[in-house]
Amino acid sequence: MSKIDELITRKQIIEHGGGPEKIEKQHNKGKMFARERINYLLDEGSFVEIDAFVKHRCSNFNMANLEAPAEGVITGYGTIDGRLVYVYSQDFTVIGGSLGEMHAKKICKILDMAVKMGAPVIGINDSGGARIQEGVDALSGYGQIFYRNTRASGVVPQISAIMGPCAGGAVYSPALTDFIFMVDKTSQMFITGPQVIKSVTGEEVSSDALGGAKTHNTTSGVAHFMAKDEKECLDQIRKLVSFLPSNNMENPPEYTTKDDLNRIIPEFDEIMPDNANKPYDMKEIITKIADDGDFFEVQQYYAENIITGFARINGRSIGIIANQPNVLAGCLDINASDKAARFIRTCDAFNVPLLNIVDVPGFLPGTNQEYGGIIRHGAKMLYAYSEASVPKVTMIVRKAYGGAYLAMCSKDLGADIVYAWPTAEIAVMGPEGAANIIFKKEIESSINPEDEREAKIKEYRQEFATPYIAAQRGYVDDVIIPSESRQRLAAAFEMLQSKRDSSLPKKHGNLPV
Ligand code: HXC
Repeated sequence: MSKIDELITRKQIIEHGGGPEKIEKQHNKGKMFARERINYLLDEGSFVEIDAFVKHRCSNFNMANLEAPAEGVITGYGTIDGRLVYVYSQDFTVIGGSLGEMHAKKICKILDMAVKMGAPVIGINDSGGARIQEGVDALSGYGQIFYRNTRASGVVPQISAIMGPCAGGAVYSPALTDFIFMVDKTSQMFITGPQVIKSVTGEEVSSDALGGAKTHNTTSGVAHFMAKDEKECLDQIRKLVSFLPSNNMENPPEYTTKDDLNRIIPEFDEIMPDNANKPYDMKEIITKIADDGDFFEVQQYYAENIITGFARINGRSIGIIANQPNVLAGCLDINASDKAARFIRTCDAFNVPLLNIVDVPGFLPGTNQEYGGIIRHGAKMLYAYSEASVPKVTMIVRKAYGGAYLAMCSKDLGADIVYAWPTAEIAVMGPEGAANIIFKKEIESSINPEDEREAKIKEYRQEFATPYIAAQRGYVDDVIIPSESRQRLAAAFEMLQSKRDSSLPKKHGNLPV
């Protein structure tokens, strides 16, 4: 056999991973083989593998004779929409994708290269966790990955896809990255699995209920995206990458759009219900403003009282944070604050301007919220908005009351432009609460207290529950005609393109966590 033939044969063996039987087992579970995932994710033919020949050095437990093609993880680089990305994909067909010393080294090399070259990293996780035979070397491998994830945070986008089990400390690498994608039914994340839980606490729970895609997308807030199958998940990752720059020194890519930036949206002049307590779907406003109605929602199923996600205006990425009056009347609570603060910081780290659409009656009252630390969690939003140096545009469409008005990025937290619709109500509290306090004596001494209360509420609403007092003080830059929102926002973001903002030198701030 010639040397070239030998090379080709060696590579072919490696490319078959754990062999056809194990690959078929993957397929039968509705999962792709690790290489198929990479090929589907990247632009056709763009994948370049590195470290295919890397081999473990473990000789314990008969490992010396154990072949582990590509060391159970395929690593390399390629392109998405022509842009460089780094990828690693754990191969469950090889020792269950378990992570040992050399497997970890391969991942670390990819992370180091991504930082040096300034390109996103996409990690596809499908692994039984630390390779038990390799003991502390495996643990050290995880530690080295965590360290690099943290150092790379805010430098290059880091994206994790969970496409199988992800147990123990293994969940912490994804948790340190910017976005976690999960696939319904076939992916799980947990620190301790169902069996350990049963033996320690007696609770019985299935692995899907404990750490499946639905759980982490709706209950824990650990994951950001859920897909019905692996292909949809990989499509979602490609889409996410299109909104992000390759690194923190670049701006997100611009796309051409046929959607007229001066497009008038006549429905907006009628969209607000006459009754200020009536809900409506904020997503209608968002999709009508966005180019081509395209809104890519992040954490769609978690804390639905606040909406976060990416869109484009005039071909440029923006991150949108908006209250959802349809859920909890759009109040801010602990989970909404965490979700928004995290998204704001992600956008700021990667130069994505922020659009805040406000209709918020306040923070959610209740002992649950107070005992759970709404003060600490709500403060994250104040911190994140104040800290963000990207262009910040706030549009108040209806309620903006009290601390929640500030927390949704008022002028005082550094909003560069604040617009209000004529339907905006900007005040310390809603008319009902306010009238009961400031007109208490008049109401109580009236011969007909209920009529008097109604009259005072009306009086307060007419005088104060408007955008005009805030506009008179300059807290609102302009009161705009709702149907002109898209063109006014497009003009604002255009003007803000050259924004420069710097803060005092410091090691790092101390975000309330
Ligand atoms: C070595 C492992 C392994 C592991 C799986 N395998 N996990 N080998 N170390 N951690 C091997 C199996 O022996 C098997 O080998 C092959 O991978 C496929 O596994 P199966 O069990 O046959 O597959 P399945 O039935 O689908 O179950 C998958 C699984 C289960 C749920 C992941 O394998 C499992 O529970 N594994 C252990 C998970 C775990 O406790 N990991 C340690 C977590 S602690 P053969 O030769 O039969 O094909 C941790 C610490 C990290 O990770 C700390 C970081 C700080």
